[in-house]
Amino acid sequence: MAAMNNDWIDRVFGEDALQGLQRIPDGSVDLLLADPPYGLGKDYGNDSDKLDTAAYLRWTEEWIDAALPKLKPNGSLYIFLTWRFSPEIFVMLKQRMIMNNEIIWDRRVPSMGGGTRRFSSVHDTIGFFACAKDYYFDLDAIRIPYDAETKKARSRSIFVGAKWLELGYNPKDVWSVSRLHREHRERADHPTQKPLEIVERMIKASCPPGGIVLDPFMGSGTTAVAARRCGRRFVGFELNPEYCALIEQRLAQLDGQTPGERPLAERSA
Ligand SMILES: C[S@@+](CC[C@H](N)C(=O)[O-])C[C@H]1O[C@@H](n2cnc3c(N)ncnc32)[C@H](O)[C@@H]1O
Repeated sequence: MAAMNNDWIDRVFGEDALQGLQRIPDGSVDLLLADPPYGLGKDYGNDSDKLDTAAYLRWTEEWIDAALPKLKPNGSLYIFLTWRFSPEIFVMLKQRMIMNNEIIWDRRVPSMGGGTRRFSSVHDTIGFFACAKDYYFDLDAIRIPYDAETKKARSRSIFVGAKWLELGYNPKDVWSVSRLHREHRERADHPTQKPLEIVERMIKASCPPGGIVLDPFMGSGTTAVAARRCGRRFVGFELNPEYCALIEQRLAQLDGQTPGERPLAERSA
């Protein structure tokens, strides 16, 4: 059997995801972590979020069908969406995968007036899907430890020795994590950068140590940074060359290197 060419691993390519996905062998990726344009007209320095609804949904189905074959049989998918198109996209995905959760990311947006004709939207809708029933999932890696007070309050004999009390609790499906506001220390120059806390939780739970995470829409490179911090490998794509440079910078910072020493984010020929 021919040895697998691994030159796509630990790289972010400055190209269209649909084109780039062809680089990746089928069945080689543990986790697909996708944060695509939302179909809301955001400015990513390109027209990628300017499609009308029908074209956006057609494009979504196209990249889903190109990306899913890259997953291993026990692989999983997390997809960041908003309430506007999560219903349609969840239906698409339910025809192809097993749906495990709808996770609500409460972005902890402060109360400041807001709209007057409906309720202000302050959450992202995240879909968690798996290829098969025996999908990889390491709950122990992401349990939230109880504080001493709560532990003490659960000291009745029936709880003694309970694994969940010692290791912590399941994070549940509402994740309350602050968005990266302008002054946040993690903040890079990208309009929809995701917090490492959220992406690292997904990676630790759903990609084994040393495994590979694929993010077709890297943005500021949160998935690449999170994967490296967690001892996993990554691959991904990003259309905007300025964001590619940002990714390179973030990774170099993590490695304690000067940006440019090692070309991790690079343009394709
Ligand atoms: C929602 S943002 C991702 C943000 C990222 N998760 C982060 O934390 O920074 C989507 C990104 O996908 C990029 N993009 C849009 N269409 C693309 C395509 N067809 N191929 C590759 N990248 C694309 C955009 O330029 C944008 O930076």
